[in-house]
Amino acid sequence: MKIGADNIEINEVAPRDGLQIEPQLVPTADKIAFIDQLSTCGFRRIEVTSFTSPRAIPALADAQEVMQGIRRDPDVIYTALIPNLKGLERALAVGIDECNIVMSCSETHNRANLRMTRAQSKQQLLDIIEQAQAHNLPCNVSLSTAFGCPFEGDIAPEQVLALSQEFMAAGATGITLCDTTGMAYPTQVTQLCAQHIAHIPASALTLHLHNTRGMALANALAGWGEGITRFDAAAGGLGGCPYAPGASGNVSTEELVHMFECMWINTGVNLNRLLDIVKDLPALVQRPLSSPLLTAGTRLQTHPAPAWLAEHFAA
Ligand code: COA
Ligand code: ZN
Repeated sequence: MKIGADNIEINEVAPRDGLQIEPQLVPTADKIAFIDQLSTCGFRRIEVTSFTSPRAIPALADAQEVMQGIRRDPDVIYTALIPNLKGLERALAVGIDECNIVMSCSETHNRANLRMTRAQSKQQLLDIIEQAQAHNLPCNVSLSTAFGCPFEGDIAPEQVLALSQEFMAAGATGITLCDTTGMAYPTQVTQLCAQHIAHIPASALTLHLHNTRGMALANALAGWGEGITRFDAAAGGLGGCPYAPGASGNVSTEELVHMFECMWINTGVNLNRLLDIVKDLPALVQRPLSSPLLTAGTRLQTHPAPAWLAEHFAA
């Protein structure tokens, strides 16, 4: 296994990627309280919401109220997903620290998710980058389906790299390689990350992994080994794209933090505080959730020995 950096950054995306797909609407005040709690955990970034069409993503129609309602910790970068110029306008009106703009690497997913061709999306994104620069607003580009598309299958890595390079040349401050539906596998992650790092500084790259097929932690390790230091993750493993069949949860933040902590890699995240928040997630989303870490405890959380042991070995 390749060894990566000693320090990594975690971007918590549950308020956006997590809540966008939840069947029960989470009240605005509860979202604000959730984000305020996450702000105390030590995340580098929190993706607060998305400024998308309320018809496309009804669960996040309250983006402006949420953005205005949260307490902002100066050490946290509060970001939001933006699909078009209208979304940028709405975000600018309430103030965000960074935009996370999005398009897909595959034509079919882009059309399904954003109702635009890739060419139209690319033009919107280039226009957003230009306008964001005029407002001194950093602009990260999230490339969906970078590791495979649920409609088209494999995506040529050269095609993903070409998009990344075009956006970086246009002034994007970072690129997120998104495994939208958990199609990535470790050697593929190694390859795509290595190809990117040959052209783009590793510090500008983020991995966004879904655990749809149980490979998210393995993929995170593969990316870390290549030099990736920024990871998106969602508390409780919430999340999924409503326009991607079979999409399910993001890599769970608590599992990602726990894994890296076991390896003595610093994430900056307070795991106990995070687990307290995860405990309350079923009440927030009004459905049962299972979190293996809550069930089993962290690795060195030991249990009392069975009571009969003392008696049995007394003689
Ligand atoms: N915020 C709020 N409203 C928006 C908007 C935005 N960013 N963009 C468009 N709208 C409104 C328009 O004003 C228009 O409203 P009207 O019918 O009352 O006049 C309506 O939505 C349709 O506008 P149009 O430009 O034709 O958008 P569309 O219906 O083609 O949808 C997107 C395009 C990109 C706005 C929409 O597909 C979207 O928001 N997708 C995001 C999907 C997503 O977040 N997926 C998960 C994360 S990857
Ligand atoms: Zn996602």
